[in-house]
Amino acid sequence: MDRRDFVKSSLATAGGALLAGRTSTAHAVATPSAAPQSDYKPAHVPGSVPDSVIDTARFPDGFLWGSATAAYQVEGAYNEDGKGESIWDRFVLAPGKIKNGDTGNVACDSYHRYRDDVALLRALNLKSYRFSIAWTRIQPDGTGPGNARGLDYYDRLTDALLAAGIRPLPTLYHWDLPQELEDRGGWPNRDTAARFADYAAIMGRRLGDRIENWCLFNESKTFTQLGYLTGIFAPGRKDPFAFLKATHTVNLAHGMGFRALKSANARVKVGSVYDVSPHLPASGSEADRIAADAMEKLSNFWFIVPPLTGSYPEGALPAARQQELLGARPGDEQLLRADLDFVGLNYYSLTRVAASQEKLGIPALDVTVDWAVGPDEKTDIGWDIYPQGFYDILMRMHKVTGRRPIEITENGAAYNNRPDATGQIHDPKRSAYLRAHLLALSRAIADGVPVRGYHCWSLMDNFEWAQGYTQRFGLTWVDFDDHQRRTIKESGHWYAKVATDNRVA
Ligand code: FCB
Repeated sequence: MDRRDFVKSSLATAGGALLAGRTSTAHAVATPSAAPQSDYKPAHVPGSVPDSVIDTARFPDGFLWGSATAAYQVEGAYNEDGKGESIWDRFVLAPGKIKNGDTGNVACDSYHRYRDDVALLRALNLKSYRFSIAWTRIQPDGTGPGNARGLDYYDRLTDALLAAGIRPLPTLYHWDLPQELEDRGGWPNRDTAARFADYAAIMGRRLGDRIENWCLFNESKTFTQLGYLTGIFAPGRKDPFAFLKATHTVNLAHGMGFRALKSANARVKVGSVYDVSPHLPASGSEADRIAADAMEKLSNFWFIVPPLTGSYPEGALPAARQQELLGARPGDEQLLRADLDFVGLNYYSLTRVAASQEKLGIPALDVTVDWAVGPDEKTDIGWDIYPQGFYDILMRMHKVTGRRPIEITENGAAYNNRPDATGQIHDPKRSAYLRAHLLALSRAIADGVPVRGYHCWSLMDNFEWAQGYTQRFGLTWVDFDDHQRRTIKESGHWYAKVATDNRVA
């Protein structure tokens, strides 16, 4: 199932929680909240060409050009050197969950070919590599001391990057929870937060001397919604109550992991990665506007506001039941807090929200929200192309993140162009997508958003979760049938020139 379909079938449930909360707090006195309220007026008119006013951009001196991958999507070697089973290792085995029954068992074989990956980064003249660490290589069952062979792998990768003059930017959690921890309740189980903090400490102790910048989580919104609410991602659960608890445990883990990394090595800088998207009402109706506003709180703000303020955006859950629904305890405010050193933002597309009359029959969650896809042109995975939204959401998030430096930790497009007769991969639409988004980014920087780096998703074609290998996001073509041969695509050469010139021409 595509991530879009998920919304139709089941964002409804989350929206129900939001709208119920909205109703029950409608008369509450507004108190300051870090989440901007519904004054949001996106400038985009569907079908227009919003960035046509500028067509070149120079980036600030020292701007960091990079690319990103994630452990499960590229490493392979799923059971080597003492690695334990993760929820994705398990989930891909369930019939019908992944297109073509694909798995990440081999993926791009980066575990053995990481030197090729570093060479690719160099060939593209990139200066930052965002990768993720597989928790199960470090703690096979999610507890206990670090596994030496797993630690050695990230040691080698880090040293190879540094030797090539490339900044390592690791993410501790890109969705691959140890299966053993899922068996003990997974993210809805509060104890998982402490396990995550232990893991963070192990990594900080091992690599904090050489890695300065760390990301805690990748897209907490997406992996909690798709993993516990809609079930289209691992671990495949569909339970709105488990989902809500999972969001709170992740936020606790975020605060505790932040402190664990800093205690392990005082010099490290810690941030996290949030996926953001403009939430547009599907129509001009009041009901849709309220639905979009409410849904946005659970998406754009649910994971960035708690670390910065110690509390959740108001009006997303019924105030009287919020503690119970989240499994929150007195004193959690302090655990949630994390004065982030920087903020990572991922941007791909927009979100359209419509209120729906469908009832779920769950007490307090009795109104639903649907997602409607807009009229814009789509990438091959079916996601709307909406560069104006990148500008809009950066301006919006900047109100929350303030002085903190921002890094774009992911942005990119799926286009499935294949090699031509000469072996070249002609993928002009990817370059056009990147170009339009980089122009939008440069406008946001000019308007005061402190963005210091950009990572294109992805360095190479890889395992795209429920889509298996059917969607190619890479700057580099990977021939999965021919010894993992990697060929830089036309868009990769285009992006390398942007990185070299520090400008979009
Ligand atoms: C993001 C994920 C990343 C990849 C891209 C296409 O949501 O963080 O792993 O799947 O989408």
